[in-house]
Amino acid sequence: MTNKYMYFVANWKMFGDLRTLNSLDKVIKFSKNNKKNKFKIVYCPPNTLIRPLSRRLKKTKIEVGAQNCHHSYDYGAHTGQVNSTMLKNVGAKYVILGHSENRQLGEKDNLINLKIKSSIKTGLKIILCIGETLKERRQNKTNQILKRQIEKGLKSIKNKSKIIIAYEPVWSIGKGVIPKEADLNKAISFIKSRFVKKYPKILYGGSVNANNLSVLKKIPNIDGFLIGGASQNPKKFIDIIKKTIN
Ligand code: PGA
Repeated sequence: MTNKYMYFVANWKMFGDLRTLNSLDKVIKFSKNNKKNKFKIVYCPPNTLIRPLSRRLKKTKIEVGAQNCHHSYDYGAHTGQVNSTMLKNVGAKYVILGHSENRQLGEKDNLINLKIKSSIKTGLKIILCIGETLKERRQNKTNQILKRQIEKGLKSIKNKSKIIIAYEPVWSIGKGVIPKEADLNKAISFIKSRFVKKYPKILYGGSVNANNLSVLKKIPNIDGFLIGGASQNPKKFIDIIKKTIN
């Protein structure tokens, strides 16, 4: 695992203000001291912080992403919304789409598909979140859900070079529990099997911390992690990276 190029994506969700950015100095220093290591750090703060954060990270290898966007590529009368072009304009290089917290608010696969298409057109890299709920898992529907989310989410998208998949079991997010090694192995292999020629990078997300990395590190096809809670604490975030790459 240590030989692979690993992604560490910080999903700050609805946390953080301008002062919070000062805490990133530690991570910037860590990134500069580890230039030769094969990993990529991406911070996805709330939209309000994309511009100041990308300015701060200008001379570093750390990149910035957003957590969602509107599906329209063009400007329009959509109160409270921001599209992928606007996100790119302020410094975003990535966008997280299909996060379960947005699916729970009613975001459906076909809407996610439109968002992905418009973000590809803009030139953003997409982190598509997929994952089953606890109920679906108990009903043995995990593969069926993953299949649907991949097929509908990526419908009629031929060039998948900008797509990264994040497998995030909904029941694991923010709950302090992660899937059993065998289950996670199965889910990741299943995701892989849904792609014909070349499968995209596959991240795992859900309660990732420095303690459970000993289990997560063993899964051969994981290319990195999407980290929520622990990413808000620079020390914890650095610990996760260190434990993965060392
Ligand atoms: P968590 O969140 O690490 O706090 O479980 C992960 C996510 O929602 O992306």
